[in-house]
Amino acid sequence: MLQIAIDGPSGAGKSTVARALAAQLGCIYLDTGAMYRTVGLMARRAGLDTHDDAALAAMLRDADIQVRLTEEGQRMLLDGEDVEGLIRTPEVSMAASDVAVCPSVRRLLVAKQQEIAASNDVVMDGRDIGTHVLPDAQYKFFLTASPEVRAMRRFDELRDKGQAVAYDDVLEDVKRRDEQDTTRKESPLTRAADATEVSTDDLNADEVVQVIMALMGRF
Ligand code: DC
Repeated sequence: MLQIAIDGPSGAGKSTVARALAAQLGCIYLDTGAMYRTVGLMARRAGLDTHDDAALAAMLRDADIQVRLTEEGQRMLLDGEDVEGLIRTPEVSMAASDVAVCPSVRRLLVAKQQEIAASNDVVMDGRDIGTHVLPDAQYKFFLTASPEVRAMRRFDELRDKGQAVAYDDVLEDVKRRDEQDTTRKESPLTRAADATEVSTDDLNADEVVQVIMALMGRF
């Protein structure tokens, strides 16, 4: 099976690039952040402390979390409900970063991700794909960009969706999530030793895809 791992901090352009890459290569695209977001949403709905590993583990024992891969893209199902439209808010972003610290959440989601990769050619994006989920992936890339550029991208995205947010708040959120994602004990965000770093500060998504295809020797 072909495995391509794309890691990096939020707003580095991973999902746009990974989706385009998967389409060009005829692979499936798996957005693993959406899985953590779904657990974050569930914990918020249940009124749980999003840092409480034992409570989250108990919650997940009865939960049915499914990834549906369609022609139009990935949709997350929570107990049969399509929650795709509910998991991109700033509140759920922070909850996702919180629950991603918890070992029982990571164990469950990583197992699902590995199961999907075992029977599909896949481009997978996240934080720990090259280091932990697919350590033997044939290709690994680590996308970076400055916090300011990443916050501006997120800001534009939220504004396009009609969400009223202040740029400074988005930047603050980006920095807080970076701090939490990079310093956690369990699978922190870090570049795999054999991953190629690509800075996306001055490149648009198409250009990043071209760079990656060239690095893979597919151009
Ligand atoms: O990529 P994203 O912004 O949708 O991810 C949401 C959160 O989930 C992010 O703060 C970190 C976490 N995450 C993770 O810990 N491991 C992954 N493989 C993907 C996401």
